[in-house]
Amino acid sequence: MLGWLKTRRAPEQPRSTAPVLPLDLSDPAFVADPYPTYEWLRENCPVVELTGGGYLLTRHADIRAAFTNPALGNAPSRFSTLAARNAGKYVAADLAAHIPPFLDGDDHKPVRQMVSRSFFNAFKGLSGELDVLAREHVAKLNAGDDLIRVGSQLFSLASMMRFCGVEAEPEQMKRLTQAFFHLFAPLKDPAVFTEVNNALSEFRAVLASALEAGPPKGSLLAELRDFQSKNADITDAQIVDNCLLVFADGVENIEAGAASLMLVFEQADLWGALERGDMDMELAVREGLRLQTPAQLVPRVARTSFEIGGVAIKKDMPVFLALASGNRDESVFAKSGAFDPGRDPAFVLTFGQGRHRCIGEPLAIAQLVAFMGAIVAARLRPQHMDISYQPRVGHRWPDRMLLKKV
Ligand code: HEM
Repeated sequence: MLGWLKTRRAPEQPRSTAPVLPLDLSDPAFVADPYPTYEWLRENCPVVELTGGGYLLTRHADIRAAFTNPALGNAPSRFSTLAARNAGKYVAADLAAHIPPFLDGDDHKPVRQMVSRSFFNAFKGLSGELDVLAREHVAKLNAGDDLIRVGSQLFSLASMMRFCGVEAEPEQMKRLTQAFFHLFAPLKDPAVFTEVNNALSEFRAVLASALEAGPPKGSLLAELRDFQSKNADITDAQIVDNCLLVFADGVENIEAGAASLMLVFEQADLWGALERGDMDMELAVREGLRLQTPAQLVPRVARTSFEIGGVAIKKDMPVFLALASGNRDESVFAKSGAFDPGRDPAFVLTFGQGRHRCIGEPLAIAQLVAFMGAIVAARLRPQHMDISYQPRVGHRWPDRMLLKKV
């Protein structure tokens, strides 16, 4: 693998940059390129205080330890609007009480089991269809088009509608999946919070009517219904909310992931090797997602007061794990800014680790392999590397990416 690397242009290493502390995750310079800041933090302040309250862990070792630290949980703190006690008050809190990312221990286990089992059964029925969908969507792309809005967004919506067993207008579903992702970042603006709650109600209504109408055999909704028939305590609301989670994850991460991969493939000059089949697409996708990690940070909450790296964390404080920073930690990944498809996957943090590890990883990889394969075959490339990012905390989502044909 290293021999292969030597023949390629060395991608630039980010220069370490000292941020203003406490760290503001919404600072435009950080949103534009967080990697130099992560590098500085790993060296100088690995457990950093955040302006909105709470801490961010940036070292690989601390993040890995956090996945199994019993002092850190996923259930929202009692002060959060998403806390279980607000379930009767806000749709967002009611939804959070049903889905694995916001559940701990014995509340998490049975729901995760339902989602995993239904997910894998539905995934089995999808083989081959993703390639067809990817080719259909990429065939509509021309030079000058925006890869995201014209390509990866419509592809990810079509594949998740097929996967979940839902038929709806792509524009409506896109608006709803975008609203859902507000739950993973601090939600302080009351007007936005109201909008998010309204969108989540609408999202639930779309999925509830698909469930009532009888979803196609083998779809996620049908598999969740089947699981319910053997587990009488599962409610229709749990089915709908977990389908909502999977649908939104499979849209937002994929449309953004595809654009990030375009950047990595261009920077590492991979197009020729991919066209000739000298480079395995799945390895390229996985290494590309390490370099440009879509879920930059995942949230946890301190269940008790504890200490990490000499910093006292008080009970109920939010603690964010910077997966994107861990994925570039030099102590684990030599020449961490360079593309090297031979790295040990056991250390890569892109999909998390442990109890809450991403359930949808095989589908995510299959979607991106199919889509990027179709892009390579159509000889579409980024027009330029000057990309802006959406100002979303927690995720790194390119705004648009204009294409050229070669
Ligand atoms: C490139 C695409 C994707 C990335 C980078 C990604 C990443 C992640 C990460 C980092 C977590 C959280 C781990 C944690 O909190 O410890 C997660 C959780 C999850 N993901 Fe994904 N994901 C992707 C695509 C998908 C897809 C396509 C689906 C479903 C079809 C999905 C379903 C889920 C679910 C259900 C969870 C919650 C697991 C739990 O809390 O027990 N993801 N994902």
